[in-house]
Amino acid sequence: MAIAFEGYPKITQSEINEALDFCNRQILHVLPEFTEEFQNAYSENGFYKPIPNRDWTCGFWTGEIWLAYEYSGDERLKKAAEIQIHSFLERIDKKIEVDHHDMGFLYSPSCVAGYKLTGSKEGREAAIKAADQLITRYHPVGEFIQAWGPMDAPENYRLIIDCLLNLPLLYWASQETGDSKYRDIAEKHIHTAVANVIREDYSTWHTFFFDMKTGAPDHGATCQGYRDGSAWARGQAWGVYGMALAYRYTGRKEYIDLFRHVTEYFLTHLPKDLVPYWDLEFTDGDDQPRDSSSASIAACGMLEMAKYLEPQEAEHYKTIAARIMKSVYDNYAVKDMNTSNGLVLHSTYSNHSPYNTCNHYGVDECNSWGDYFYMEALTRMSRDWEQYW
Ligand code: GLY
Repeated sequence: MAIAFEGYPKITQSEINEALDFCNRQILHVLPEFTEEFQNAYSENGFYKPIPNRDWTCGFWTGEIWLAYEYSGDERLKKAAEIQIHSFLERIDKKIEVDHHDMGFLYSPSCVAGYKLTGSKEGREAAIKAADQLITRYHPVGEFIQAWGPMDAPENYRLIIDCLLNLPLLYWASQETGDSKYRDIAEKHIHTAVANVIREDYSTWHTFFFDMKTGAPDHGATCQGYRDGSAWARGQAWGVYGMALAYRYTGRKEYIDLFRHVTEYFLTHLPKDLVPYWDLEFTDGDDQPRDSSSASIAACGMLEMAKYLEPQEAEHYKTIAARIMKSVYDNYAVKDMNTSNGLVLHSTYSNHSPYNTCNHYGVDECNSWGDYFYMEALTRMSRDWEQYW
């Protein structure tokens, strides 16, 4: 428990309320434009454009609407989220852009949330169908859920660390249906992922390949990170939150220790203002963009893990989360609706480097998950919250 950023201020309850109040007002302000359509994955010059329900990111916007509804109880929000749940049901029924593993990112903050909050029957139906879709991507040879692409090619035979956030959908589906098949697959995937994506120094691989014939672990590789051996900031943050959720759902004590180590790696690679650059290779003085979404994702992971720890250690992680979120609120959050229709600036979706194959888009902008996890972290700090994951 060495790192605590002593002397850094924590976000106060009144700042949390002010922040959530702004989020609520901003979401209501843009709601007419983003009810039948969704926010693009990232903003351009601070402004999101509307898109149809096609991308892997559309669930975050509905999740923001639900979080705002929980905050204010405004019926306009509930109505809009219900329209979007209908769109998610149609999407899974028609199998529109669902041949990938991001069913949890899509259906947990939208449809599972709607079911938990309002008993939405459409939400329940859509989310169970999404869980059915997700388990079609499971490979018994290698015991993992394949992230992207057609299932029969060696160049696709890999998992990615982000998938840890897709698995709560499977646990929820088992609980709802009484059928353990979803949970069994989630458990196998977690085990395979944890055994392979975490390196000896507790930095993480973004993606990991397996041998198609034997299922044996083959090699790690980055996709969105700076280079293969570096730690992509958001991958590490997915690891922090992912380990907390892995412990929540499996109860395996060794995951607590892995959570501590993966989190320590993240924290020891933060710059002075506690908001990482897009890859943890970079720090103060480097001419590189930030990824503010990673700060909020990691804070959510620490707040989640704190629920299962002894009081002293729980307080330690809650304090760090409150320090990180103070910086996000002070230095990155949108405060003026004229400058952006999003919630948090300075995130990076996909940045090109000499060693990755990424295109440069959504760099130093708002993005949909950055906005969503900012609200989730604030909500978690404001009260006991029944999570969507
Ligand atoms: N899951 C994709 C990303 O974090 O950009």
